[in-house]
Amino acid sequence: MSETAVIESVAEQPILFSPMTVRGVTLKNRIVISPMCQYSAHNGLANEWHNVHLGQFALGGAGLVFCEAAAVEERGRITHGDLGIWSADHGAALKPIVSFLRAHGAVPGMQLAHAGRKASMQRPWHGNGPLDESDRARGETIWDIVAPSAEPVNDRSLMPDELGIADIQSIQKAFAAAAGYADAAGFEVLEIHSAHGYLSHSFLSPLSNHRTDAYGGDRAGRMRFTLETAEKVRAAWPDSKPLFVRISSVDGVEDGWNIDDSVVLVDELKRRGVDVIDCSSGGIAGMATATRDPLPLGFRLPFSDRIRADTGIATLTHGLIIDVDQAEEILQSGQADLIGIAREALYNPYWPRHAAHALGVDPEFGDWPHQYGWWLTRREAHLKNIGVR
Ligand SMILES: Cc1cc2nc3c(=O)[nH]c(=O)nc-3n(C[C@H](O)[C@H](O)[C@H](O)COP(=O)(O)O)c2cc1C
Repeated sequence: MSETAVIESVAEQPILFSPMTVRGVTLKNRIVISPMCQYSAHNGLANEWHNVHLGQFALGGAGLVFCEAAAVEERGRITHGDLGIWSADHGAALKPIVSFLRAHGAVPGMQLAHAGRKASMQRPWHGNGPLDESDRARGETIWDIVAPSAEPVNDRSLMPDELGIADIQSIQKAFAAAAGYADAAGFEVLEIHSAHGYLSHSFLSPLSNHRTDAYGGDRAGRMRFTLETAEKVRAAWPDSKPLFVRISSVDGVEDGWNIDDSVVLVDELKRRGVDVIDCSSGGIAGMATATRDPLPLGFRLPFSDRIRADTGIATLTHGLIIDVDQAEEILQSGQADLIGIAREALYNPYWPRHAAHALGVDPEFGDWPHQYGWWLTRREAHLKNIGVR
């Protein structure tokens, strides 16, 4: 980063490090750790891995730390290792994590999910395909999966059963119940996962929803599952706590869900009390994140820009954001309100603290944990003495 940029940023407080209040919750900065499945739970319950994995991001200085996608019912897990939030016990297992995050200045967020026709998969490191006979030796048996229509993701995927109306309603109830467990565990922000080809997204997309009843057909019918679910979750989640929805802003496939559809959906979500849209993309016909296609830094920004401008809702953008100046520029230009990082945070959990330093914020390490900050002020003084800083 250039010297001039530092001076300018110090003169006007960088937006990246200005707080943001949504309903009754204040984030100390605009950096969000995006949800990241760890495929490391047993029976859906969080354990020491999740504690350390998520805890490091609070120490790293993010304003909001999202827990990975947690399944609202057992068959809604992607893999046997997914986190779940389908009982009070699942919520209770997350409590120590929530309390650690809060103690270290991060707002704890939970993402509620149902994998739909992308359930019953192998962990990425076991092949990332549908579970098959080869997984049985690990005790990882295939389970029956569900979707709006009996159509697999592609010709290598498992065939889902088409959901009946009673089953749709019971899944929506499970989302609402999970919101209650998340609240009881102390989470302060809730996000509904309606992206990446999972259940809610697969209701939206004309490529995966071929129903002819009230939950299919035209765009209004295809939006019904997502909108009703948002209403039910909003009703079960305290008024003082923000509700986010992550959408795949576009399918990126011919004749799929597009950005105009997203603008219409977001207007409806906003009317139902959704506060922030997390603007993702892709995943209806394959992988959303693990693609090897060449992508520019901040590749999902155009979706956030359009949705924010057309609907006036606050947005979260993410997707290969690794550069502090780019992050600040996105906020300065009004293309998003929050910056999400996922793989960059795996590479460097201290990205927010390093960004603060680069922008001249917190030069005395006052926001760091005392256990670290006290030492780092002394290290910095040495570095200045010898002209390294
Ligand atoms: C290990 C890993 C797990 C992920 N799990 C989730 C998840 O649970 N829910 C979700 O919506 N996205 C998930 N994603 C996608 C990320 O939240 C994010 O949208 C994506 O990685 C792009 O951001 P990045 O370029 O900063 O990594 C995951 C990504 C990674 C790398």
